[in-house]
Amino acid sequence: MKIPTIIQAEKILSEAEKLNPGLWINHCKTAGHCAREIAEKCDNLDENTAYVLGLLHDIGRREGVTDMKHIIDGYNFMLSNGYDENARICLTHSFPYKNINAYNGQSDCNEEETKFIQFFLENTEYDDYDKLIQLCDAISFPDGPVYIEKRLVDVALRRGFNDLTIPKWKAFFNLKDYFDNKTGTDIYNLIGISSVSDIKQIKSI
Ligand SMILES: [Fe+2]
Repeated sequence: MKIPTIIQAEKILSEAEKLNPGLWINHCKTAGHCAREIAEKCDNLDENTAYVLGLLHDIGRREGVTDMKHIIDGYNFMLSNGYDENARICLTHSFPYKNINAYNGQSDCNEEETKFIQFFLENTEYDDYDKLIQLCDAISFPDGPVYIEKRLVDVALRRGFNDLTIPKWKAFFNLKDYFDNKTGTDIYNLIGISSVSDIKQIKSI
């Protein structure tokens, strides 16, 4: 596994911000923060690795305003710099549900790129870093962490939905269950938003 140091990763993101400034920069910072906090409570994950992977998962957006293309742009950019683990995350982070048609948005990849993404997904068994960044992508707004439900509805409002949206949403909730179990707590407690149990308590008052 080869990844940049934290200083290198933050430099890569700030250079990307100069090329294509936007809300995506703070979304990435939130994802890095969430990944670090959750990884810290997982025996088999390193929090600094998780932070770097979260921070750079959308780095393909440095190339401009694109849709699915940012996945392949990120993969190629990180691989060209020798960072194979980041390249992998750039590709896997949008597919908790392993079907390229489940992507919410425009398919602006050409046929060759689309085939490559599908092939990569079919031949990759997700590890816990893949799963962690998929989850963190789904709980990260530019101004901080949010409940999965808020992010999913936000994406559906902006980009619409298709027949695969519901199984994809279920895949996100399975990821949350997975990391709740792994960390032994509700991950919302770890990332700085009030837990669901707090809301239940409020409702019962
Ligand atoms: Fe993202």
